[in-house]
Amino acid sequence: MLEKDMSLDGKTILITGCAGFIGAALAVELLRETKGVHIVGIDNMNDYYDAALKEHRLGLVQSAAGRGSRFTFIRGSIAEQDLVREAFRKYKPTVAVNLAAQAGVRHSIENPGTYIESNITGFFNMLEACRHSSGDGGVEHFLFASSSSVYGNSKSIPYSTSDRTDCPVSLYAATKKADELLAYSYAKLYGIPMTGLRFFTVYGPAGRPDMAYFDFSNRLTSGKTIQVYNYGNCRRDFTYIDDVVAGIRSAMERAPREDEDSVRYKVYNIGNHSPVKLLDFVHLLCGELERAGLLGAGFDLGSQMRLVGMQPGDVESTYADISETERDFGFRPKTGLQEGLKRFVEWYSDYYR
Ligand SMILES: NC(=O)c1ccc[n+]([C@@H]2O[C@H](COP(=O)([O-])OP(=O)(O)OC[C@H]3O[C@@H](n4cnc5c(N)ncnc54)[C@H](O)[C@@H]3O)[C@@H](O)[C@H]2O)c1
Repeated sequence: MLEKDMSLDGKTILITGCAGFIGAALAVELLRETKGVHIVGIDNMNDYYDAALKEHRLGLVQSAAGRGSRFTFIRGSIAEQDLVREAFRKYKPTVAVNLAAQAGVRHSIENPGTYIESNITGFFNMLEACRHSSGDGGVEHFLFASSSSVYGNSKSIPYSTSDRTDCPVSLYAATKKADELLAYSYAKLYGIPMTGLRFFTVYGPAGRPDMAYFDFSNRLTSGKTIQVYNYGNCRRDFTYIDDVVAGIRSAMERAPREDEDSVRYKVYNIGNHSPVKLLDFVHLLCGELERAGLLGAGFDLGSQMRLVGMQPGDVESTYADISETERDFGFRPKTGLQEGLKRFVEWYSDYYR
């Protein structure tokens, strides 16, 4: 395991997408577990999904921060260069974590422009701000969200960071791959340590309503029908939010060393290393919804489920090889799917009660 080369105590940390699912959970963890940390969050609070949920998450971050000025929120888009530059100039973050992005594979087919705006222009603005802040009091480590989708429909299972990732099957995946390349060039040209994290289907409390586990819960509990793509045969490496946050934190504390080309750049898989067939996942979810009393005793899944073909942009399987993440950070996911879904359903039931 790599030694920690940075303590986060007393540091200013910039998190973009801090009202998002992963960003808010990361901010809460850092505020609870790190002495004297100051979180600066940026989020444009867009309405890609229910913005009330983003407000709810900001409330959780604010209460983890308590009274005082441990959390500063900037409402705005990373696609606005002046806003990003001003945030870096004013708060001088030591670590910046870029989680803001237009997420979702299917949405990128209907709305390609927002992906270019947030994931390319916004990402470029973050890199430029890091570059201009470098030197004394500048950013010492930039981390950013990539995605398992960069592996496309790779047949090499499990997905390793040494696999080819130049055949994206969606625009979303292409923007995430582009981010990795842009970051590499900045790490090489300007010597800024950069870490890309390829997340695999993150789920859990206060998660994303556009993702299957959340959407299925909404539909099934309101008597609607769900569509299960690829006839339920897709496999996903569902990764619980607390495990993802632990992985991000470990990565934040260990900026990459120089590689053989003297570049301080590395990508890691953050996945569960335990893929599950979509149909099995639906059964587990229904079991938890029934246990929580959100589905009636006589619930008949068959009458509320349609098995349909593959969606454009989707991949058949995701499965993370996490040997490098384990070797360098001691990353070992702790939460099995059943336990994770149970915690999601408990939160869901409370939130919508
Ligand atoms: N959740 C997953 O399963 C998963 C998997 C792979 C990769 N990722 C990546 O991880 C990151 C976080 O994902 P998430 O699940 O928390 O998504 P999320 O949509 O909940 O969070 C992203 C946040 O970024 C904000 N945002 C979007 N565009 C912005 C912009 N231009 N300026 C400022 N804020 C902006 C949104 O309002 C949102 O609150 C994203 O980069 C996503 O692509 C997530």
